[in-house]
Amino acid sequence: MAGVKVRLDEAMGTSLIMLYGLAHDAHATPSILGDTVAAQALEKVDYDFARLKLSPKLTALAVTTRAKHFDGWTSRFLAQHERATVVNLGAGLDSRVWRVAPGAGVTWYDVDYPEVAEVRRKIFPSRDNYHLIGSSVTEPDWLEQIRPDLPTLIVAQGLTMYLQPEEGQSLFRRLTDHFAHGAVILDTHNSYALRRQNKLVHRHFGATMHWAINGPDDLERAVPQLHCTDVVSGLVLQGRAPGLPIAYKIFVKLVQSVPVIRDAGLYLRYEFGS
Ligand SMILES: C[S@@+](CC[C@H](N)C(=O)[O-])C[C@H]1O[C@@H](n2cnc3c(N)ncnc32)[C@H](O)[C@@H]1O
Repeated sequence: MAGVKVRLDEAMGTSLIMLYGLAHDAHATPSILGDTVAAQALEKVDYDFARLKLSPKLTALAVTTRAKHFDGWTSRFLAQHERATVVNLGAGLDSRVWRVAPGAGVTWYDVDYPEVAEVRRKIFPSRDNYHLIGSSVTEPDWLEQIRPDLPTLIVAQGLTMYLQPEEGQSLFRRLTDHFAHGAVILDTHNSYALRRQNKLVHRHFGATMHWAINGPDDLERAVPQLHCTDVVSGLVLQGRAPGLPIAYKIFVKLVQSVPVIRDAGLYLRYEFGS
């Protein structure tokens, strides 16, 4: 019987869906990510997932398609910068640091609310050069403990939509002021996706999404240090996932010609500094 009773509300609760998807994929054949660390972590969690009425297969596909893409961006950055810092904002219960397995020259920080950090400490193993910061990402103080001079990758997967637009924009301005140079990878919901997803996260966790990002230039205008290098539609990527039910594949093919749906969730990569 699982041991760690988990009670995470509002935005924090959504991190459970991600862990559930990763763990389900780890048990699937074939598996997309084979994330056994996530599978072992989920076994320790005592939480009534049945009440969420998730489709294990579709949840795993959605979660792992996005995670695999972000893992790829992370690995590529680390392949170019042997000595680097990774700051994973709103890390939730994601096990990226074990999937990517950075080398000894990389220092990794996962940042999320103290309640989420406490759960992470109980369900994940420890590792070298890894730090867990229990704080809201919008609090300015935590940043001071991270050295600013190394190439820095800032990861914000599944986070921006939960921030107020002004606090999100000033967070990215603060980050690009603090760190000398690096890249930011994040995903977005546009106004259409925000309306649709808000109902779901509110029903399950009482969470509210606030920040709609309607394209890469939204953030470039608000944070002039950022220059977009890559734009990927999450929907188009998911439509190519192996093992996707044929009906969903056809649905994706049909709706991807409608820009507001194709761009409902974008994966964006930016660079900053010299
Ligand atoms: C959808 S989950 C994504 C978790 C993880 N990044 C992933 O993709 O698996 C959203 C996460 O953002 C975190 N979050 C939202 N607002 C936050 C804030 N102001 N400070 C820290 N974490 C925040 C939540 O606690 C939650 O863990």
